[in-house]
Amino acid sequence: MKHIAIFASGAGSNAQKIIDHFRNLSPSLSKGEGASAEVSLIICNKPGAGVLSIAEKEDIPVMFIEKEKFFRGNAYVNELKEKQIDFIVLAGFLWKIPDTLVRAFPRRIINIHPALLPKYGGKGMYGNNVHAAVLAAGEKESGITIHYVDEQYDNGDIIFQATCPVLSDDTPDSLARRIHQLEHEHFPKVIEKLVREVK
Ligand code: GAR
Repeated sequence: MKHIAIFASGAGSNAQKIIDHFRNLSPSLSKGEGASAEVSLIICNKPGAGVLSIAEKEDIPVMFIEKEKFFRGNAYVNELKEKQIDFIVLAGFLWKIPDTLVRAFPRRIINIHPALLPKYGGKGMYGNNVHAAVLAAGEKESGITIHYVDEQYDNGDIIFQATCPVLSDDTPDSLARRIHQLEHEHFPKVIEKLVREVK
């Protein structure tokens, strides 16, 4: 059994879809070599975040993290290793991932970004800030990017992208809804494929 940790500090709709996906894998699939995996930990830095109620409802342990220890301590590497975490998924997590953590999980940390990187990424580019920038630039298309996490914001190798139209009457909220649908459709499947490849 592989153990996935999700880092999230928002509503947690992606976390919910990922949890559901691994719980609902058909028995034959989940018995396939390397296919068996579960979300065994939610990591959060924001009191009151929606993802915390999801973790409680789904009976998944939460590890609350503090800025000082994350950025100046061991970045919780020991705790993650103790909990036998194999793969880390960032799903609406806004802090930069410290080098210590990147090095401890090489090509085993992925992020989802709500735009077509390399455009509209970097510090401060999250959620509706991204969608507002896409609209202000008059883009006709946006989408999602799933990528490996390295030492810089939104910079690691791209694993997967999917696109959707930007409509002339879109607002950041209406575009966000379309982007969320794309994320929910693709993110769990991409994670499953990558987790199968983890040795
Ligand atoms: C998602 O749209 C994700 O792409 C975005 O935060 C949202 C979280 O939604 N992440 C970023 O903007 C990272 N730069 P959720 O809490 O409902 O899963």
